[in-house]
Amino acid sequence: MTVRVGILGAGFIGRIHALNLHRDSRVSLVGVADVIPRAADRLAAEVETAALHSLADLLDRGVDAVYVCTPNAQHVEPVTIALAAGVHVFSEKPMATSLRGAWEIREAARRARGIYQLGLNRRFARVYTFLKGLIDDGRLRPLLAQMKHNRGELQQPPWTGDPSVTGGYLYETPVHLFDMGRFLFGDVEEISGVARQSVYGEPDGFVLLFRFRSGVVASVTSVAHTSWFFPYERVEVYGPHQTAVTEELERAWYSPGMRDQVEGIDCFQMPFEEKWGYVEEDRRFIGAVLGDGSLAVSADEGYRATELVEAVYQAVRSGAAVRLPLPEPA
Ligand SMILES: NC(=O)c1ccc[n+]([C@@H]2O[C@H](COP(=O)([O-])OP(=O)(O)OC[C@H]3O[C@@H](n4cnc5c(N)ncnc54)[C@H](O)[C@@H]3O)[C@@H](O)[C@H]2O)c1
Repeated sequence: MTVRVGILGAGFIGRIHALNLHRDSRVSLVGVADVIPRAADRLAAEVETAALHSLADLLDRGVDAVYVCTPNAQHVEPVTIALAAGVHVFSEKPMATSLRGAWEIREAARRARGIYQLGLNRRFARVYTFLKGLIDDGRLRPLLAQMKHNRGELQQPPWTGDPSVTGGYLYETPVHLFDMGRFLFGDVEEISGVARQSVYGEPDGFVLLFRFRSGVVASVTSVAHTSWFFPYERVEVYGPHQTAVTEELERAWYSPGMRDQVEGIDCFQMPFEEKWGYVEEDRRFIGAVLGDGSLAVSADEGYRATELVEAVYQAVRSGAAVRLPLPEPA
């Protein structure tokens, strides 16, 4: 059986998924829909499918699955409509731009016949699978960590500087880092920190402390106006006489002990879409649709990532530590 897939949103990330799916023999691309006809036309020609306008057009074509690749604040509506229509959904991050929106999707996913997967691609990026493997194999025992995910600017694409579209900077970029914290160290029990508003019209610099239920404590920094100085994303994990470090999605190192050789991986030569985890997340989504049980990032995981964003906003606004889980929006 081939999975009939439609893409909603023919921008930067819609194109990456469309190209991955175009190469996957298990997939038949049914159409690419965008409110800007030129964007739909261009991508449709590249992946040899129909150029369409809306989610309704994709559903009319009888898709089995939809990729929601529209800007951040436009995820909840198409996702819940598609799930209610019995269609499988892959949604780009963020899941939603409020805890209520994430809750609505989680509830819709629980009721749905189809599956829901969220595009937190870093979980499949090579540097992070390296780090996660060290922890899961018991070779690295995380005690403390230092995590950073900066952005050079909030100018490209232009909507990244508009909180009414992004939901706020934390939903645009650091949501990846917050989820990575949970992925590596488990649930967070308390968040505190400080935010500054310096360059843009919203809080654009965060210095935070995450306390994990596992006992790990991490300092977490994210600044939106740093220029693209390498590495703008870096995680350092410290164990008993151990250190593991990632440098952006390019390289990772592991020092297993005081007198041991340092191990490392260099992903420089890997194709971008593999290095960043996009190929693997798409491969797993299609596998899950076909029933092989390989679902990657579920609605529950997405809800928890959204909760971390909201808890950080609460903590920096109030100046007080916020404990998790947050009350659910009933
Ligand atoms: N996981 C990642 O690494 C990653 C990377 C980039 C973007 N993203 C996410 O993907 C989403 C899209 O980002 P992008 O960089 O591709 O943006 P983009 O601006 O390049 O593309 C978005 C496209 O959606 C179209 N669109 C807007 N509203 C629409 C609607 N109602 N119906 C159909 N099409 C509509 C726009 O015309 C545009 O072509 C965002 O939520 C972003 O956060 C994730």
